[in-house]
Amino acid sequence: MIDLSAFPRVALGSWPTPLDDAPRLATALGSPPVLIKRDDVNGLGAGGNKLRKLEFLLGQAIEQGADTIITFGALQTNHGRQTAAACAKLGLRCELVLTAKVPMKGDAYERSGNIVLDHMFGANVHICADAEETAQAYERVNHDKAVTLPVGGSNGLGTLGYVAAAVELVGQLNDRGIDNACIVVPLGSGATAAGIALGTELLGWSGTVHAPSVSHSKADAEQELHTLAGDAAALLNVPAPKLAHVTITDDTIGPGYGVPTEDMWSVLKLFGETEGVVLDPVYTGKAAVAFRRLAPTLDVPVVFLHTGGLPGFYGYAPEAVAQF
Ligand SMILES: Cc1ncc(COP(=O)(O)O)c(C=O)c1O
Repeated sequence: MIDLSAFPRVALGSWPTPLDDAPRLATALGSPPVLIKRDDVNGLGAGGNKLRKLEFLLGQAIEQGADTIITFGALQTNHGRQTAAACAKLGLRCELVLTAKVPMKGDAYERSGNIVLDHMFGANVHICADAEETAQAYERVNHDKAVTLPVGGSNGLGTLGYVAAAVELVGQLNDRGIDNACIVVPLGSGATAAGIALGTELLGWSGTVHAPSVSHSKADAEQELHTLAGDAAALLNVPAPKLAHVTITDDTIGPGYGVPTEDMWSVLKLFGETEGVVLDPVYTGKAAVAFRRLAPTLDVPVVFLHTGGLPGFYGYAPEAVAQF
């Protein structure tokens, strides 16, 4: 029913990713069964959710004859790092135009974590202090055979990567006899949650989706979710989805995007000591704070979509050392 075969696509990951039981986490929470969808464990470039989007985005770029990919993000962007790795694998030049917009300082944040991997994957990294410098750097690197990807790889085409993931995940749940569940998915630039939301609606799935925002206000995130899901639906020639089964919260962001919170550190410890699973401080950690609150209130299984971000953890090494 959902046919993605018309879209050019490159192979970057090995699918399906595991869907793991997390019984010790469920016991600790006093919740229904918990499953963790391990989109963090894909091999290329240390893995993560962007690989699914990039399969479509780079498929199209190559079809358009691109020899260079340009994209944007914060210094510790996981999207940038996975784009750099994918470009290395595909023999494309990669220009990462990064903006210092998170109030974190020091070698770990400014030079290690994702950034050291960006360099290792051969990307050209341009660090910019503000929007003006970012625009100037972009101007310098852009050319005829360059394709520009949006922040987080989030547009209608990138969203299709998570429509495919929704099909995969619902299939795995069906195989286990689970026809109703709540999927919790971190929401940043939006295409991951939008793809899961659209895919589950198109499948007529009876579960719900909860997307804790890690950066935008609930109102902005809702608008973005509908725009991205609508754009992806248009590519699939289906009507814009209603998304009545989706809820968004923004109250686990704390002081701001990328700024650690006490709740985030404590949920990283919980996932670590119950399941040996590492969350990251920026995305999965803050989403898991909302997950921890929600799971015990549910009467259906709950799926935590682990979107990756492990290298970003090392960008926060001094803060993590102080915690653990
Ligand atoms: C580890 C991780 N999780 C979640 C997200 C959020 O995904 P999206 O930008 O599609 O909302 C990102 C995006 O950068 C990420 O790197």
